[in-house]
Amino acid sequence: MSYKDHNSEIYPDNLPNEWYKEAFSIWYKVVYSHRNVKEAQKQVKFLASLIPISLSTKILDLCCGYGRHIRFLSKLSNFVVGVDLSSELLTQARAQNENLAEFICADVRSLPFHENSFDIVLSLFTSFGYFYTDEENYNHLKNLASVLKCKGYFVLDYFNPNKVKLSKKHSSTKKVNDLIIREVKWLDDKNNRINKNVTIEDIKGNILKSYIETVKIYEFSQIEEMLIKCGIIVQDVYGDYSGSEFTNKSPRLIIIARKYA
Ligand SMILES: C[S@@+](CC[C@H](N)C(=O)[O-])C[C@H]1O[C@@H](n2cnc3c(N)ncnc32)[C@H](O)[C@@H]1O
Repeated sequence: MSYKDHNSEIYPDNLPNEWYKEAFSIWYKVVYSHRNVKEAQKQVKFLASLIPISLSTKILDLCCGYGRHIRFLSKLSNFVVGVDLSSELLTQARAQNENLAEFICADVRSLPFHENSFDIVLSLFTSFGYFYTDEENYNHLKNLASVLKCKGYFVLDYFNPNKVKLSKKHSSTKKVNDLIIREVKWLDDKNNRINKNVTIEDIKGNILKSYIETVKIYEFSQIEEMLIKCGIIVQDVYGDYSGSEFTNKSPRLIIIARKYA
């Protein structure tokens, strides 16, 4: 990856091709310390109030990360599977959820399941829009739709595109334990993406990790259109995990949808 120095801030010249293979590592919990188990518990409680779940319900947590939702999902069902591409996060997930669920290292583009395997597929905390082409992002949805049973539920928790589009170039620094996390976030209008450069330093200023995150900004209507092509119909839309209406100012775009074909 090549970097260019502008006004002492670091911006990447070229975004890495498969950035998501670098970005999600043992540092995830530190960088996203606010996206924790407590938050996951509230989210699962909210989803379980909307979607019927019994002990025999087959649930796929796609892009499960370190499995923060799985410990609560596995209290509701005996058939919970977590899939993620990051072996480092899966190691953490297995350690924290021993015997509670099955964890599989796989890519969303080639899921190792038969068609119609799951009653519920979850995609939580902006795990969609990672690929550079619309075709690949659409294929992500098509793949998950194929492993979902007819009448099964799909939940997509994505950022609010209206809010993200108003983002200004923004730098921030925070201290978590003995680590300094520096983030530079910027909107790429041309490609309709929100980009972030994250650098993790120790207290002596040694860089432990530096990586890019880049996510395509889709409007709700664009996602809905792609879902319809995959045989999935949007049933409800919320703006947060308290069940608030989705508006331009909502923190999240939470889509509850069902496969009809
Ligand atoms: C923003 S994190 C969300 C993790 C988790 N859902 C949560 O709420 O903490 C996105 C996750 O997607 C995974 N991921 C990224 N690209 C993937 C791919 N192509 N196939 C499978 N998982 C992928 C990452 O490893 C990461 O764990």
